[in-house]
Amino acid sequence: MSDLPPEKTAPPLTANWRGQLRVGSIIKETPNVKTFRLLPASGERFLPFTFVPGQFLNLAFWIGGARMNRSYSISSSPNQREHVDLTVRREPRGAVSRHIVDLLKVGDIIEAGGPVGKFTFDGTEADSIVLISGGVGITPMVSISCYLTEQKWPGDIFFIYVCRTPADYILADAIAALARENPKLHVIITMTRPEGTDWQGPRGHLTAELLAQSVPELTSRRIHLCGPIPMMDATKALLAEMGVPPDQLKTEAFGTPKPTPAPAGTTAKPSAEAAGPLVTFSKNNKSAKIQAGQTVLELSEDLGIGIEFSCRVGTCGVCKVKMTSGEVTMAVDDSLDADDKTNGIILACQAIPKGDIAVEA
Ligand SMILES: Cc1cc2nc3c(=O)[nH]c(=O)nc-3n(C[C@H](O)[C@H](O)[C@H](O)COP(=O)(O)OP(=O)(O)OC[C@H]3O[C@@H](n4cnc5c(N)ncnc54)[C@H](O)[C@@H]3O)c2cc1C
Ligand code: FES
Repeated sequence: MSDLPPEKTAPPLTANWRGQLRVGSIIKETPNVKTFRLLPASGERFLPFTFVPGQFLNLAFWIGGARMNRSYSISSSPNQREHVDLTVRREPRGAVSRHIVDLLKVGDIIEAGGPVGKFTFDGTEADSIVLISGGVGITPMVSISCYLTEQKWPGDIFFIYVCRTPADYILADAIAALARENPKLHVIITMTRPEGTDWQGPRGHLTAELLAQSVPELTSRRIHLCGPIPMMDATKALLAEMGVPPDQLKTEAFGTPKPTPAPAGTTAKPSAEAAGPLVTFSKNNKSAKIQAGQTVLELSEDLGIGIEFSCRVGTCGVCKVKMTSGEVTMAVDDSLDADDKTNGIILACQAIPKGDIAVEA
């Protein structure tokens, strides 16, 4: 929660920022999740950027000689201008999350960029909101709930969270404090594995019954959904069955379900003979035919081009490259703005060439 009223903070400085932040403090939330409070590295009082609740930062690390980018949603409120919180879950075999959770310490300087993302809600878009999350997908929902509570937003907030056990409930104290402060915040938690705990609340995965009894007139409300991919798929199907119009649902996926490939230059050559369009990477002076369904990013990895990436799902914008000729299709282009599109910028992680193309990479 912000401890500074908004009117006492410095005016907004920049969006689309890139620079350094310093780890100010680290809080252990659950056995495998920590919150990192990041401060301006420069020693300035205020952060060098502002953000909208629901946005994320892109962090970059050098790990084992490779540069790796990952996105992390901001879990604190934008009213707090002196720090920004990122809450990170340690993935058992994850390259970057293990580095962050196991090795980062207070005082470390990290490279960051942003804020970015369109999975936002500041209270102007609708008069009530249903926030459904699972696992670490709770992070943007906490930022949104915190901000709306601080703004004394008059709308109902239905905060629905699915997690395994009470010990896995991330940011539980923050949510409990917000619920005490805001009578319009309705918190519904269901635990999928509560056996052996003293959990008294709802059990099991999200069901139509639980949703219907928790959220009156669900189908007329705006809904935000973020969580593990199987949970998101099941919830999307449930909401569709319940009659929620697709344009009322906003979702954010926290990344690819498949492991990240090895760093550029170390990946084995594809075994199948590529017969698709020719892709030219002009800065590297390399060209190759692409395989059916392969993205420009995947081909660049085969060739050791080194295009940077983070989410691989079209939301973070880290993999932007300029296309100087040709045409591509992109299933998701959320992180491209109108200027990007006018200037021929594409998302390498999404781009499937329609014919021969050339990119500046
Ligand atoms: C917009 C956005 C916001 C996000 N916000 C958050 C957030 O607030 N908090 C958060 O914790 N995360 C968040 N993420 C996810 C985060 O960006 C990373 O994807 C996550 O931390 C995993 O990165 P990693 O490098 O540790 O895993 P990677 O190395 O990229 O591995 C990806 C997955 O594959 C598994 N894996 C890796 N290698 C193997 C292998 N050999 N065999 C089997 N499985 C393997 C890993 O366990 C992991 O689950 C967000 C993602 C996006 C796109
Ligand atoms: S890697 Fe995030 S948009 Fe491509």
